[in-house]
Amino acid sequence: MILVLFGPPGSGKGTQSDLLRNSGHFVHISTGDLLRNEVAEGTEIGGIVKDIMSHGEFPSDDIIMSLIEKQLDLHEGEQIICDGFPRTMNQVLAFNTLLSVKRENVGLVVNLNVDLSQLIERISGRYSCKECGAVYHDTNKRPLKDGACDRCGGLEFVRRTDDQPDVLKNRVRTYLDQTQAVCDYYRQKGLVKDLDASKDPVSVNNDLKSCLTQAGFII
Ligand code: AP5
Ligand code: MG
Repeated sequence: MILVLFGPPGSGKGTQSDLLRNSGHFVHISTGDLLRNEVAEGTEIGGIVKDIMSHGEFPSDDIIMSLIEKQLDLHEGEQIICDGFPRTMNQVLAFNTLLSVKRENVGLVVNLNVDLSQLIERISGRYSCKECGAVYHDTNKRPLKDGACDRCGGLEFVRRTDDQPDVLKNRVRTYLDQTQAVCDYYRQKGLVKDLDASKDPVSVNNDLKSCLTQAGFII
């Protein structure tokens, strides 16, 4: 069964996915992470998407679907968190086709709600471990031991190129223009739960886990 985690840049999709993944019952698929890996590895896809992403725009739906199809093949039958996918109506339709072939379904769509001012504060303070990608924040979430990643012990940290204030504005605009319709689509199907994601990460995670249990996921 599939959980779609939905929300604007900085709403906490990655943070919540990490917390859920700790239980060992979920596979985390983030199209943003998959695209950044392609860029880091210098693949053909990475070369195509690098500039598009740095401007806060979306790469083509065909590229996104090729990445998703590979991941679904790898994780058939598992509980999957889709973080940041689907983001366009074309992706929704292509996803529906893929899922029907695999006899899988979207069991829940969680919409993480946070005010714009909080999003800016979260994004401008975010950094992550260069080695494993664990996400931190200058004030909200520092590593337990200063300068070393809690998850892998890595000593190098990076900031995302699309976390500049002007690019963030474009990402939020793109989200409102293209991705809101995806939420409306799932809402009409009765699959959407709205969560107040302005609370602290653990409280949000407890609310999220209640929704998952009600929807029949194993947490
Ligand atoms: P993607 O990587 O998915 O970025 P995004 O959607 O913009 O979301 P973010 O990763 O910035 O935020 P998040 O919600 O994960 O927040 P996080 O947990 O890190 O996509 C990047 C780009 O890739 C897109 O712009 C597009 O170009 C492309 N792309 C990806 N998928 C695509 C698709 N399907 N189709 C087309 N293009 C696609 O938290 C942020 C910060 O806040 C952290 O520092 C964290 O510590 C802190 N924080 C989190 N929760 C809390 C809390 N509750 N309280 C206080 N601080 C918190
Ligand atoms: Mg993320």
